[in-house]
Amino acid sequence: MSVFCDVPLSAPVAVFQLTQDFNNDPFPTKVNLGVGAYRTDDGQPWVLPVVKKVEKVIVHDDRLNHEYLPILGLPEFRAASSRLVLGDKSPAIMESRVGAVQCLGGTGALKIGAEFLRRYYNGNNNTKTPVYVSAPTWENHNAVFASAGFEDVRSYRYWDAAKRGLDMSGFLGDLESCPERSIFVLHACAHNPTGIDPTQEQWRQIARVMMRRQLFAFFDSAYQGFASGNLERDAWAVRHFVSAGFEVFCAQSFSKNFGLYNERVGNLTVVARDADSLRRLMSQMEKIARVTWSNPPSQGARVVALTLNSPQLFDEWKDNVKTMADRVLLMRAQLKAKLHALRTPGTWDHITQQIGMFSFTGLNPKQVEYLEKEKHVYLMASGRINMCGLTTKNIDYVAASIHEAVTVVQ
Ligand SMILES: Cc1ncc(COP(=O)(O)O)c(C=O)c1O
Repeated sequence: MSVFCDVPLSAPVAVFQLTQDFNNDPFPTKVNLGVGAYRTDDGQPWVLPVVKKVEKVIVHDDRLNHEYLPILGLPEFRAASSRLVLGDKSPAIMESRVGAVQCLGGTGALKIGAEFLRRYYNGNNNTKTPVYVSAPTWENHNAVFASAGFEDVRSYRYWDAAKRGLDMSGFLGDLESCPERSIFVLHACAHNPTGIDPTQEQWRQIARVMMRRQLFAFFDSAYQGFASGNLERDAWAVRHFVSAGFEVFCAQSFSKNFGLYNERVGNLTVVARDADSLRRLMSQMEKIARVTWSNPPSQGARVVALTLNSPQLFDEWKDNVKTMADRVLLMRAQLKAKLHALRTPGTWDHITQQIGMFSFTGLNPKQVEYLEKEKHVYLMASGRINMCGLTTKNIDYVAASIHEAVTVVQ
């Protein structure tokens, strides 16, 4: 008998299963709105032109080799990443109280941050400290914190299904009623999956309550630049918290805004109260990284570092990011206009009110099933669609299919 005979079979991850179902579907005009990555108007992955250019520079640079990176990662990558989210003139950076850990994607940054907090946040055993994630959230948040040893992962109210927008009073209510010093995972911008972010005034309110109740802000910044097309605007919430005096963690992913999904480029930016706390904290981060992946991979980090540290390449990158963000905006406007033109029952204004790659359509699970089975249009059971799955070629078909699903299935 196998020593593995008692291993329980785990369910496949929904988003990967969806892509497999889509790939197995022979229907010629099928559409995948479930994918979690950018697609061009031809439905293809996009290697950013600036990335292609920098990769060529790396190939021809004979000074580079494949020696191990330091445990905490490539110094010029870490520093540039923290500057990107906190701002070039961040007082916290000037005061030497910002540190960074190069991580394996945004997921790795969440994982390393969670491992650290479970060990050292506010004492030395946080298994019972509540961690709050938004309802709904990116599905991996719960599991990453649970697997780091947090036994009490809860949800805070975020999405108001009836108004298809932010449940601000529910959110504030949960901030008021949770135990003091709880940890809150906040989406820095382009909330996944709803596409709804708090306004700047709402962020101010959130920060005031969190400060008064001594709650910890762990930002997840997976879409900087994607939400508004503007890097500064998309970092506003994180910068506001730092300027209000919070100590924060910010998990940064370069998967989406650099299109470097499989290179696993991420960074954990840490803002501490003072340089001495930071020094002790970083010494423990190094220990955690050491037992997790020992030291990180270099290729993606080099691409990002070279781009962010060259004014000319940085401008080219900003143009590339804007190209992606603008395509998303165009698809939002066109989908809404087409649904209005078809007089599809319901309101569709939320499609253009939401931002970032994803839209929470409000389609119910039966309508989602209808779309998949009858129209070969694939989307997440929650009704989330990736706007980049839409193209100028398939948008009429998708709009007509949504119209049919909403009309036929209540
Ligand atoms: C909100 C959020 N956080 C983190 C991640 C993880 O990013 P990465 O692929 O860099 O690990 C994603 C990816 O979809 C995400 O949507």
